[in-house]
Amino acid sequence: MPNNIQKTLITLTSIIGFAALTSSAQAAGGDAEAGKTKFKSTCVTCHGSNAEGNVGPKLAGQPEAEIIRKLTEFRAGKQRGPMTFMMAPMAQGLTEEEVKNVAAYVSSL
Ligand code: HEC
Repeated sequence: MPNNIQKTLITLTSIIGFAALTSSAQAAGGDAEAGKTKFKSTCVTCHGSNAEGNVGPKLAGQPEAEIIRKLTEFRAGKQRGPMTFMMAPMAQGLTEEEVKNVAAYVSSL
């Protein structure tokens, strides 16, 4: 392979690698403030005003990734616990962005 093509390929690979890194960094960090607004308007009746648990389980302090994983399962229609029928429609009403945001919020409590 001629040297200049090799260089171009290496440059391209590092650009793509960098883009992947920055987008995954964004994916990991939800907006806790936006999540708080959503949580207060949609989730408190069942999970308590500080996510301490009520009809639904306690969410406060659970790791962000756990909350995202659980909400993703509900969104996919997976049966998780005996009361999934209550929670699945709630999770399905969230966008992916909102899932990350509420996860960032409740894990911060
Ligand atoms: C109508 C009541 C209700 C509302 C409103 C509700 N939930 Fe739930 N939630 C539940 C119940 C009940 C469960 C347990 C489901 C099961 O048994 O599978 C649950 C489970 C969960 C779980 C899994 C907890 C665990 O540790 O297993 C998460 C995460 C969650 N809810 C987040 C939310 C978020 C975020 C909102 C607001 C967008 C919300 N819920 C709104 C009732 C509700």
